[in-house]
Amino acid sequence: MVYGMPDSSPEPALFSDGDVEYIRLRSMEAAYDDESIAVFGTIGVSAGWRCLDVGAGAGSVAIAMKERAGSVWALDINAEHLRKLESVEFRVIEADLTAALAQSDIIPDGLDLVHSRLLFGLFRDPVNEILGLCSRLKPGGWIYIEEFDDITFSAASGSRRSIDLHRKVVDAKNAAWARKGLDSYVGRQVLQWIHFAGIERAEAFGSCKVRLSGTDQIRPWALSLPGMRDALIREGLTSDEFEEYREQLERPGFSYLSPTMIRTFGQSRR
Ligand SMILES: C[S@@+](CC[C@H](N)C(=O)[O-])C[C@H]1O[C@@H](n2cnc3c(N)ncnc32)[C@H](O)[C@@H]1O
Repeated sequence: MVYGMPDSSPEPALFSDGDVEYIRLRSMEAAYDDESIAVFGTIGVSAGWRCLDVGAGAGSVAIAMKERAGSVWALDINAEHLRKLESVEFRVIEADLTAALAQSDIIPDGLDLVHSRLLFGLFRDPVNEILGLCSRLKPGGWIYIEEFDDITFSAASGSRRSIDLHRKVVDAKNAAWARKGLDSYVGRQVLQWIHFAGIERAEAFGSCKVRLSGTDQIRPWALSLPGMRDALIREGLTSDEFEEYREQLERPGFSYLSPTMIRTFGQSRR
């Protein structure tokens, strides 16, 4: 099943739902959680904190919050996977973020930390949502946003043919994104957005990894491809090239740079 949301929805109907989506979410968690959660130490997340994870997906970051903090809310437009984790300290909000922010009683306020990962790249213009989330922080509370920036994603190593094919796929993906009004370079913009929202002592840093074909390192990207097939072909990839690229990812002999994950965080005014 495709998400099936109207085109005006921030979620592009490019990925499939159900079991495949759950496996894809878990593979992203496996690929990114360690570095994401390490920043909780920098921020100083501690007992008694009230935290919100937005676009919480399969919930691993929200669980890591719960292990360190007091109360955790996990918000997602599709809370199917989060419901299995629900408890007194881990509350699930199934809602569209934009709609939830438009009401006063869905998202708690006075929060110590609001986190999101790979959410705002799905919005055409997330500034209002980011402002809204910052307004739910208590004075001195933290916003922490992780987003991809595709600056590194076209870089690859292997045969000439495999490098060219990889670039063609990445270009087609970016064109499909742009057709939906989405930006493949959100990561670099978040610092300006949170600064605009009045966040102080904000900083951002990027992390990029080399992904080796034929290993689990390519899994999050490889699992995204089936749901993007039609969109990629609309942007000029042939179905033969699509199959060749999927095989290229599974065979040894090729590597590419991941998109850069830019982690941006700062504190609301005291
Ligand atoms: C790419 S996944 C990232 C999941 C998780 N943050 C992670 O990094 O493992 C994006 C998540 O955002 C959710 N999402 C998309 N649009 C949303 C919206 N408008 N409001 C709330 N959640 C949304 C999706 O359901 C999905 O779980």
